[in-house]
Amino acid sequence: MELPFAESWKIKMVEPIRKSTREEREQWIKEAHYNVFQLKAEHVYIDLLTDSGTNAMSDRQWAGMMMGDESYAGARSFLKMKETITRLTGFEYVIPTHQGRAAENVLFSYLVKEGNIVPGNSHFDTTKGHIEGRHAIALDCTVDEAKNTQLEVPFKGNVDPKKLEKALAEHSDIIPFIIVTVTNNTAGGQPVSMQNLKEVRAIADKYGKPVLFDSARFAENAYFIKTREEGYADKTIKEIVKEMFSYADGMTMSAKKDAVVNMGGFIATNKKDWYEGAKGYCVQFEGYLTYGGMNGRDMEALAIGLDENTEFDNLETRIKQIQYLAKRLDEFGIPYQRPAGGHAIFVDASKVLPNIPKEEFPAQTLTIELYLEAGIRGCEIGYILADRDPVTRENRFNGLDLLRLAIPRRVYTNNHMDVIAVALKNVFDRRNEITRGVRIAWEAPLMRHFTVQLERLG
Ligand code: F0G
Repeated sequence: MELPFAESWKIKMVEPIRKSTREEREQWIKEAHYNVFQLKAEHVYIDLLTDSGTNAMSDRQWAGMMMGDESYAGARSFLKMKETITRLTGFEYVIPTHQGRAAENVLFSYLVKEGNIVPGNSHFDTTKGHIEGRHAIALDCTVDEAKNTQLEVPFKGNVDPKKLEKALAEHSDIIPFIIVTVTNNTAGGQPVSMQNLKEVRAIADKYGKPVLFDSARFAENAYFIKTREEGYADKTIKEIVKEMFSYADGMTMSAKKDAVVNMGGFIATNKKDWYEGAKGYCVQFEGYLTYGGMNGRDMEALAIGLDENTEFDNLETRIKQIQYLAKRLDEFGIPYQRPAGGHAIFVDASKVLPNIPKEEFPAQTLTIELYLEAGIRGCEIGYILADRDPVTRENRFNGLDLLRLAIPRRVYTNNHMDVIAVALKNVFDRRNEITRGVRIAWEAPLMRHFTVQLERLG
């Protein structure tokens, strides 16, 4: 008999988590105004709010923490991090920052000007924020397949080359660069194929434009290239990563994801003018050029995490867990963005709670129901997150309305995945009794989902 699959690590340290009663959760979520960002973490049993900064470091990373060089300038830990980044990506110039959005802020301060257009595949919220905040436009050129959650295609995160080419043909003079997010978080942690990265490069070259990768989950993307794309099965993850970055001029990185640390980020590039242009902003916003908002010990752990998480076994353990949860949901007929992505399951709320009108926020209602059912905290990636149209002030109901269950790396076991699947099934089984959603009682003018206050209807 073939041996079953199992994790490529064993557990050395544990952290207790606590279950609660439904009555307690009714009280806590009410006090949180039905917004899970306002819950105390200790009132959560299984926390799937994000996979960002919530990962478990390895013994070697913890050992690295003790070796951190906290020198203000020229720290050994910075040089080690820089050497690792250059070895993995081929990028020569490295600017450390305290997290991913800080890397965007530093680099975009140099690159993005008022009136610019930055085309890409579903820019992440902060990326979009840093573009729109500079009175420029983040133009979404994702393939249309990404909008149909039930369509099973291998690289649903791809850039649509036709949309990109059209943008460049019409607006080349106001496009400073093209951004490709790997994996595509907003589309469901969906990967971008190597073929697509090559096509983007070719179009960029035709118009003389640089390409930037938003690389938060680049290693997970490489895993999908290896396992889904023809010609890559026999290549190592490190070889694939090197080839991916050969099609880019630079990267911004949130190390809180694929470098498996709790805080950190960086910019890396081969363009000297980007480095020279951005470095002053690093000093201004983040810190001196050899720490950029990070501790020496954090840079040490980041370097080790990058090396470990560009190995196949570690990524396979990670992504097989997401696929395990997906399989359990399939057993119960619960619809989600197919196929399962790299870091999360995105449940299609309008299909799970068909009786909730969009004006009553189905995905937020499902988020609340799942918390009440089992103390599981997911996150709405839907109509509340989408904010209002800046001109009409109407809610934006044109995108998808999803509940994201983001799985932290190396934190929960498949028994936890079983609890999540069954809790969702119980909510799904009650779907005909769930007929009312929520209304907004108070909201901020921008980025409302962090602080919105809601009332339950019915
Ligand atoms: N780019 C992508 C694709 C992201 O997913 C994130 C963060 C960032 C940039 C910003 O990085 O948080 O280090 O400043 N995503 C988190 C999430 C918050 O929950 O998906 P950051």
